[in-house]
Amino acid sequence: MRAAPAAPLLQLLLLLGLWLEAAGVAESPLPAVVLAILARNAEHSLPHYLGALERLDYPRARMALWCATDHNVDNTTEMLQEWLAAVGDDYAAVVWRPEGEPRFYPDEESPKHWTKERHQFLMELKQEALTFARDWGADYILFADTDNILTNNQTLRLLMGQGLPVVAPMLDSQTYYSNFWCGITPQGYYRRTAEYFPTKNRQRRGCFRVPMVHSTFLVSLRAEGADQLAFYPPHPNYTWPFDDIIVFAYACQAAGVAVHVCNEHRYGYINVPVKSHQGLEDERVNFIHLILEALVDGPPMQASAHVTRPSKRPSKIGFDEVFVISLARRPDRRERMLASLWEMEISGRVVDAVDGRMLNSSAIRSLGVDLLPGYQDPYSGRTLTKGEVGCFLSHYSIWEEVVARDLSQVLVFEDDVRFESNFRGRLERLMEDVEAEKLPWDLIYLGRKQVNPEKEAAVEGLPGLVVAGYSYWTLAYALSLAGARKLLASQPLRRMLPVDEFLPIMFDQHPK
Ligand SMILES: *[C@@H]1O[C@H](CO)[C@@H](O)[C@H](O)[C@H]1NC(C)=O
Ligand SMILES: *[C@@H]1O[C@H](CO)[C@@H](O)[C@H](O)[C@H]1NC(C)=O
Ligand SMILES: *[C@@H]1O[C@H](CO)[C@@H](O)[C@H](O)[C@H]1NC(C)=O
Ligand SMILES: *[C@@H]1O[C@H](CO)[C@@H](O)[C@H](O)[C@H]1NC(C)=O
Repeated sequence: MRAAPAAPLLQLLLLLGLWLEAAGVAESPLPAVVLAILARNAEHSLPHYLGALERLDYPRARMALWCATDHNVDNTTEMLQEWLAAVGDDYAAVVWRPEGEPRFYPDEESPKHWTKERHQFLMELKQEALTFARDWGADYILFADTDNILTNNQTLRLLMGQGLPVVAPMLDSQTYYSNFWCGITPQGYYRRTAEYFPTKNRQRRGCFRVPMVHSTFLVSLRAEGADQLAFYPPHPNYTWPFDDIIVFAYACQAAGVAVHVCNEHRYGYINVPVKSHQGLEDERVNFIHLILEALVDGPPMQASAHVTRPSKRPSKIGFDEVFVISLARRPDRRERMLASLWEMEISGRVVDAVDGRMLNSSAIRSLGVDLLPGYQDPYSGRTLTKGEVGCFLSHYSIWEEVVARDLSQVLVFEDDVRFESNFRGRLERLMEDVEAEKLPWDLIYLGRKQVNPEKEAAVEGLPGLVVAGYSYWTLAYALSLAGARKLLASQPLRRMLPVDEFLPIMFDQHPK
């Protein structure tokens, strides 16, 4: 504790302050903000969460960290400690409240199960953070759950600029889920309203008054009525569900404090919560999908450089090779694909795509390529483009490698794949089932466009597979050695047509 400055020094400082003000130098300092971090079993998302907090465009000297963690079975505590040791000194103040034990709540069925004790403890913690912010003299407190990634570094400034008492930045997720409600029932439960989807999908943009926000929101402690806001104990007249976010929504309503959500900007992402019977692994897999989605939609999430991320162990997940066809002149796509595969711990090998732009007719002829006589695109009526020739040749070179190296099964990706949630887990399960059923197979589309959506025959014993009808796209498929041999045996270079059309001919589903 530093002693109070002696009186003459204080006077000097005051005089200096007046002088600076007279000289037009002093600006009123930016509002002081407390960041409330409440982390539990958050190892999977903490690096990106902390990375986003670090990048907020706001002076750290005007921010305090209030950080609690408890009931962890993973390395959350160690990770936070590591981060605070690296950056804590930059902030105006740090409160650190780790609790090593216990690791579970009593009566908890899993770490994702919300018991009454858990709700209560969380309310008490949030109340503590709020009380700290008031005592410290903060102007604002930002609550941000540890799986909410604020990729927009202007988030704090933008929210403050609204001048609203309680305001949430609308966060994007993989689904219809977000961090606000548009309606609430008289009993305090969620009510779906006509405004929800237009808001969530940003067809209606702005800041909207709503009955409840959660997960990430900014509270102005100077706003009228804000002194009555509380998480714990609940308001004396409270009869709604015993849940921290609903308690707070009620407190706002009772204090006449307006709650808003803003969606003009993209602020960041929220991970869809897993069900209470699911586990931390499900949550981790879900979060990886969110990282991949952010890579597609941008801006991407960036992990903090100040924490050690659990190490990744990429593998070929039971295939002999995982090929990624990618044009050298599209490094953005290549990087995104490799980053996506890395996140899923799949080790891919880049194959430089044959660039159609570099092809001319003599080069095409010298490769032994002849176009299928009379081929016309069914939609445009045109003949093959150079891009289509390049694409065919790229896939063809992989089929050749499969046969030459006797690879029993491989994966092939193009570089513009958008992965579904748990892609890796689902593919692994599918291939296990295929093996268990001893299904002889040549090619499995992992993504495609059904040209004429029609009912397709199920594959017996394999509910994840159908016998493919007329389909387009070669963006992701599994190929067996037998399949590669058949593709090559047809000598497709001699009567080339788009690879999209070639495959359906090979499985006898082409309409012509
Ligand atoms: C904020 O993010 C934008 C876009 O990612 C970036 O260009 C800018 O440099 C960042 N600003 C600060 C102050 O970090
Ligand atoms: C925590 O991290 C350490 C070292 O980084 C690692 O050895 C340990 O397995 C991790 N524990 C858990 C539960 O993830
Ligand atoms: C609780 O409700 C009663 C009856 O509606 C009301 O008279 C009282 O003022 C309320 N208490 C508070 C703290 O708002
Ligand atoms: C065709 O391409 C090849 C190889 O890229 C090049 O050597 C050749 O000069 C080109 N021919 C014509 C006519 O442009």
